Amino acid sequence: MKITIIGTGFVGVVSAAVYASFGHTVVGLDIDEKKVQALRNGKVPFYEPGLEELLLEQQKDGNLSFTTDYGEAVGGSDIVIIAVGTPSTDEGKANLSYLYAATESLASHLKEGVIVVVKSTVPPGTLDAVDDILKTHATARYDLASVPEFLREGSAVSDTLNPDRVVLGATNEKVFEVLEDLHSPLKAPIVKVTPESAQMGKYAANAYLATRITFINQIADLCEHNGADVQEVISVIGLDKRVGGHYWYPGFGYGGSCFPKDVKELAYYSRLVGEDQNLFNKVNELNNQRINRLLTAYGKKIGGWEGKQVAVLGLSFKPNTDDMREAPSTKVVPWVVEKGAEVHGFDPKALKSAEYFLQDTQIELHETIEAAVAGADVVIALIEWSEIVAFDYASTKEDKKQYFIDARNQFNPEKISKAGYEYLGVGRK
Ligand code: UDX
Repeated sequence: MKITIIGTGFVGVVSAAVYASFGHTVVGLDIDEKKVQALRNGKVPFYEPGLEELLLEQQKDGNLSFTTDYGEAVGGSDIVIIAVGTPSTDEGKANLSYLYAATESLASHLKEGVIVVVKSTVPPGTLDAVDDILKTHATARYDLASVPEFLREGSAVSDTLNPDRVVLGATNEKVFEVLEDLHSPLKAPIVKVTPESAQMGKYAANAYLATRITFINQIADLCEHNGADVQEVISVIGLDKRVGGHYWYPGFGYGGSCFPKDVKELAYYSRLVGEDQNLFNKVNELNNQRINRLLTAYGKKIGGWEGKQVAVLGLSFKPNTDDMREAPSTKVVPWVVEKGAEVHGFDPKALKSAEYFLQDTQIELHETIEAAVAGADVVIALIEWSEIVAFDYASTKEDKKQYFIDARNQFNPEKISKAGYEYLGVGRK
């Protein structure tokens, strides 16, 4: 089959490389010339383990190409997948202008019988708006579907190749058949639902996980008041099969390109349909306030931030990515700088992103952990990159009082204390 992917962001590039690896002819389209040129040269504009290798392999095999030309990309295509960004406004309204612009641009190039798939995260009902645009601008007969993406950054290639499920949202059996066939190399359950359920399912999945994280963060905060250890509490509740102990690292709150945006959008959508008193408003609010609250509390324990030298380890929003969208570092660094601290930062892959995301903040970036922690009064281990967790902090301990803030409860408190630091975790002693 010939497949077109519109939008070469994170989801677009990963999907293009993976569908090409199934033996299809895949064309990735983007309106950004520079991006397309880089992708043609086998360069992925972000760090994602295994992606560049897969991309190069598929380009070499002739299965995958990139273009800026709608006619070339969409013409003759059996499936056109739209994977453009849908950034939200401050209040949480999904901005669908890129989606609508792409729909308008592709419409006149569609071949008879094509399936147009929306992969971007969109509010329920969006497929009707896409349909209205196509009805006005397309001459070919087409079908529509909604196929949301559940991949995580940092493990996107393996998530796409080994998903927990594939969700297909469509309204007719022929479309289901073609999309089932497209995803048949994946040994995953296929969930066939309406487009609206697929769209709600995507929001619900992310909002549930974000709520779960917010819940355990709240429990951690309560533990601070009574001497309980949140990690022990997780082991108590985690053995309940209805709950499970997975995906529960308390810390500085969730970040990244999906959870903050999707929770905010679901809150907005809830308000839009009259559900003003909704859970998602609160989850969003608690997560937004979290870093401020925690840093204020740590400030009391360390005798104030003013004049302290602080090493922030882990600047990306999670390990194995250089993505800093809604990364805790983007709030932590300006906050402590504003309180009068001097900040040194380290990240294994996100130093370039940090130059951009933290350009307005006073931070000295370092290539090694040793250099970042040298002279530090406070070490904040913000993100659990394996090199940050495995580092021997005893080797850099200095002859002065030093605090170690374990922002994701990834370290053994005893080991850190033995190394000479005063250990401060989240919801634990
Ligand atoms: C997420 C979803 O997992 C994925 O299915 C969806 O399609 C896109 O959004 P991603 O943002 O890449 O993926 O990362 P994920 O690993 O799920 O983490 C999201 C955020 O939650 C990160 O900031 C992470 O640090 C935080 N998190 C995760 C916690 O704070 N505690 C946890 O226990 C797990």
